[in-house]
Amino acid sequence: MYARPTEEPGTGSRRPADTAFGKPSNGFTVSILVTGGAGFVGSNLAMKMKGDGHRVVALDNLKRRGSELNIARLAEAGVEFVHGDIRNKEDFPSEPFGLVLECSAEPSVTAGYGGDSPEYLINTNLAGTINCLEFARRHASDFVFLSTSRVYPMAKLSNLRYSEGETRFELEGKQPFPGASGHGISEEFPLGGARSLYGATKLASEMFVEEYREAYGIKAVVNRCGVVTGPWQMGKVDQGVFALWMARHYFRAGNLAYIGYGGEGKQVRDLLHIDDLFDLVRLQTGDLETFDGGIFNVGGGKDVSLSLRETTELCREISGNEIKIGSDPETRRADIPVYITDCGKITELCGWRPKRGAEATMRDIFEWISSNETLVKRTLTA
Ligand SMILES: NC(=O)c1ccc[n+]([C@@H]2O[C@H](COP(=O)([O-])OP(=O)(O)OC[C@H]3O[C@@H](n4cnc5c(N)ncnc54)[C@H](O)[C@@H]3O)[C@@H](O)[C@H]2O)c1
Repeated sequence: MYARPTEEPGTGSRRPADTAFGKPSNGFTVSILVTGGAGFVGSNLAMKMKGDGHRVVALDNLKRRGSELNIARLAEAGVEFVHGDIRNKEDFPSEPFGLVLECSAEPSVTAGYGGDSPEYLINTNLAGTINCLEFARRHASDFVFLSTSRVYPMAKLSNLRYSEGETRFELEGKQPFPGASGHGISEEFPLGGARSLYGATKLASEMFVEEYREAYGIKAVVNRCGVVTGPWQMGKVDQGVFALWMARHYFRAGNLAYIGYGGEGKQVRDLLHIDDLFDLVRLQTGDLETFDGGIFNVGGGKDVSLSLRETTELCREISGNEIKIGSDPETRRADIPVYITDCGKITELCGWRPKRGAEATMRDIFEWISSNETLVKRTLTA
């Protein structure tokens, strides 16, 4: 549990939070450093944490195209912004923080392939995360790490048994690996095998989170997120596909294709609304004693999942626009046919489960684009 006096950030004694959702007690707030705080997840969490009464500082190097659009929103919400790079220790604030929310990353699963150097990916997602842990160690900060379902190895995920329905691939109930079932992938899924360079940086970081807990006693939780989406996601082809799909429909921008697995768009992902992720992070940070040391699969689950074809249908229905979708049967490196999060462990521990459905989530993305059309058009159609 965190709740530290504002006048002594990072050094005050712990007091129980007032509510089950970790809202600060009267006069007690925590100071939070959100790394990657201008990104999709970071900016949304930062603003909502600020709304709960905490002092929040967002640090970001603005590498992601479109993150700069969040600076004005952060300022309006009262979140302080530091233009800094987690690869550089000297870019971190000098004062202590009670909590570090590590949301920075090169989040693309294709990074480092196709002639790209993996250097930026490794230096940010691994060395940079270790810098964040060092910051937390120096100031005895609590630590929340946004990891990914991509820590699970590709070959095993690709070899899951699935059937082919009219609009989507469906995981079968009986699977060849532990931790896999018709409900999706749980934390018991085996970790051996290549997982993508991105996934490797995240898994290695998870291991350092564990070591820092053990060696230095910092409290930490790891959330292995499936696809997270919602308003203010600057979707691109290799990351943020649901926001991208809606944007291309909204602006009638076209240039979309079903890529891989025969080019029919039957590949499936679950999707988690950013507000559902916030509900969980608020719960965790309000009672870190309970969640400390936990590694959790976090996603929309089977009930909140879409194939690309189904996504197209929803985008057509919601936007009223129909665009041509191309087809390329060849499967790209690091792609997988179906990923569904089994959230059983986190639900059992604290009762959290996603509340926003797939259609509601896509509608929220539509509303956001339509209310910010001029601002986001260039980024979302580039
Ligand atoms: N969005 C998803 O579907 C999803 C799924 C699983 C895990 N995650 C994880 O959640 C976190 C947030 O992802 P997101 O979707 O908000 O991505 P994002 O790209 O929108 O945000 C990441 C932010 O980090 C910043 N950044 C990159 N390199 C940096 C550096 N060296 N120093 C400082 N800032 C840097 C970027 O400018 C960007 O604003 C990441 O750790 C990602 O791996 C996201």
